[in-house]
Amino acid sequence: MNIVLMGPPGAGKGTQAVRIAETYGIPHISTGDIFRATVKAGTALGAQLQQYMSQGLLVPDEITIQIVHDRLQQPDCASGFLLDGFPRTIEQAIALDKTLGAKPIDLVISIEVPDEELIKRLTGRRVCQNCGATFHIHFNPPQAEGICDQCGQELHQRVDDTITTVKNRLEVYNRQTEPLIAYYREQEKLVSIDGSQAIDQVFQDITRHLGVRQ
Ligand code: AP5
Ligand code: MG
Ligand code: ZN
Repeated sequence: MNIVLMGPPGAGKGTQAVRIAETYGIPHISTGDIFRATVKAGTALGAQLQQYMSQGLLVPDEITIQIVHDRLQQPDCASGFLLDGFPRTIEQAIALDKTLGAKPIDLVISIEVPDEELIKRLTGRRVCQNCGATFHIHFNPPQAEGICDQCGQELHQRVDDTITTVKNRLEVYNRQTEPLIAYYREQEKLVSIDGSQAIDQVFQDITRHLGVRQ
């Protein structure tokens, strides 16, 4: 299965993607995670990416499209993959169709959550920079405050999770990414999921569309 996970910042894409990837045995490809790893590596490209990300702006299509194109050529994508946070513009969606050719996207899962809830989720999010695990101070707290359950390292706030940047990201989503919902609805690939429910319930709704676990 070739799957795209869509939804505004804080909708729960990353949270659900980890579970889907594990359950169905497909790689989880998050452009946000790839970009953050590049920033952390301290390369010239990383410095360029950080300029966009810290303001909540999209990274230019030509950079993003090339990175995803290369990632999808890896052998682990041959029997399916889960894209999280890509495509985010119509141009990216068209480029993706071209990259995939005869093995197109099967399903686009759009996770929907009201804006006021998204702001609460993002400003309370804590992430582990060591293993990538995601928590929330109220909705999904770690067992020990500020410490990752998985690996024991310290948790951090993402630099783009400040209230001002969060508002920019929501605006960017509505202007540049939301039009993709109609694009995929026309192709009859879109399913909408109520992402305001509890994490387990959202996952159950998603698996209902993905069919029997392998
Ligand atoms: P990216 O990393 O993709 O960020 P995003 O789209 O803004 O989404 P988030 O990762 O913030 O949210 P999420 O939906 O994964 O939610 P999560 O599961 O963590 O992109 C970052 C930046 O990179 C972009 O701004 C852009 O600059 C650049 N970029 C990336 N892709 C690009 C592209 N294709 N083109 C151009 N630029 C690109 O959950 C959020 C919080 O809520 C957590 O604390 C979690 O514990 C909690 N939570 C999750 N589910 C629930 C629930 N059901 N109930 C209660 N709490 C919940
Ligand atoms: Mg994410
Ligand atoms: Zn960790």
